[in-house]
Amino acid sequence: MSLSDSFGRQFHYVRLSITDVCNFRCNYCLPDGYQCDGDRDFLNLDEIRRVVRAFAELGVEKIRITGGEPTLRKDLPQIIEQCANTPGIRKVALTTNGHKMARYLDSWDAAGLNAINVSVDSLNPHVFHQITGHNSLTDILAALEQAQQMGFDAIKLNAVRMKGINHHELDSYIDWLKDKDLCLRFIELMETGDNRAFFKRHHSSGESIVAELQSKGWLPVTRSLSAGPAQEYYHPDWQGRVGVIMPYSKDFCASCNRLRMSSRGDLHLCLFTEHGLSVRDLMQSDKDISQLKNRLQALLVEKHASHYLPEHQVGSTKHLASIGG
Ligand code: GTP
Ligand code: 5AD
Ligand code: SF4
Repeated sequence: MSLSDSFGRQFHYVRLSITDVCNFRCNYCLPDGYQCDGDRDFLNLDEIRRVVRAFAELGVEKIRITGGEPTLRKDLPQIIEQCANTPGIRKVALTTNGHKMARYLDSWDAAGLNAINVSVDSLNPHVFHQITGHNSLTDILAALEQAQQMGFDAIKLNAVRMKGINHHELDSYIDWLKDKDLCLRFIELMETGDNRAFFKRHHSSGESIVAELQSKGWLPVTRSLSAGPAQEYYHPDWQGRVGVIMPYSKDFCASCNRLRMSSRGDLHLCLFTEHGLSVRDLMQSDKDISQLKNRLQALLVEKHASHYLPEHQVGSTKHLASIGG
């Protein structure tokens, strides 16, 4: 059995959000005064076990655990372990803001985590504070080094590039990457329901990053069909790689290979444009797993070709913390 949509796209990758709560307030993501939506009735360990098993039996091989901030859940090591022990799941990854990384890296590693993506939106402590509201840049960079020594399969960094905020930092990121076996991805700022005015002021096109990289001698890595959202670049003299995530580029959605499960059990077929389809009622008993699989498969016919829908442009999602990016 496998999951595919009406456009022939196959889905082997699920982004599983385990909480809406976040301890950061990144200015592009959560507006001032944001409170977690309503109650905190997030999927419990048993529900997660069942839905991951259902996805795995439908051919999913990779689970990326996201939030909000997933490291705020005390049972994160058990969630990782459960995902890693599910037959068929070959890779368990985590996307985090890195704030709690130093303390918990060992327990995630022991639980079977394979890969980590960490947001580092500036290499300047003042700018980092301006963006996130926290002074933890130095600690996060130290924890990253620790993670590298532990031998995870992949460590990637994310930086949302914003005009007037961190736009001028390309050279410092590139210098910093020279001898690091890391991939740093610049993400084009995405418009959401909550950040429209911010987006207008600070959005800068992904193409401008690509042009700058090319002018500095960076070359595109050939992209496989199973690749993530980033187009990666390498430089013959650099150990580190740079990726660019351009959600507004023409062909971005054609290679979409991921589905999203929200922390309250809603299937999201896209980061934008729809409000989630609840499947939580079928996560309540092991007996329901085959029905859950049937429903997941059936819901895929609703997946659109791309997020560029007439009269329904990107931006209907309130903020990416609610779906896990
Ligand atoms: P890899 O599996 O390591 O390639 O991870 P990833 O890039 O999918 O995960 P990560 O959580 O680091 O996300 C990086 C950025 O890509 C975030 O801003 C996500 O919101 C964005 N992103 C990931 N998948 C999609 C997608 O399907 N559509 C859009 N528009 N953005 C996405
Ligand atoms: N635009 C681009 N990236 C965003 N992220 C969160 N909100 C946005 C947005 N509006 C990123 C975070 C993190 C990843 C999961 O999503 O910086 O790296
Ligand atoms: Fe920042 Fe991620 Fe938290 Fe949003 S969910 S405020 S991007 S750390």
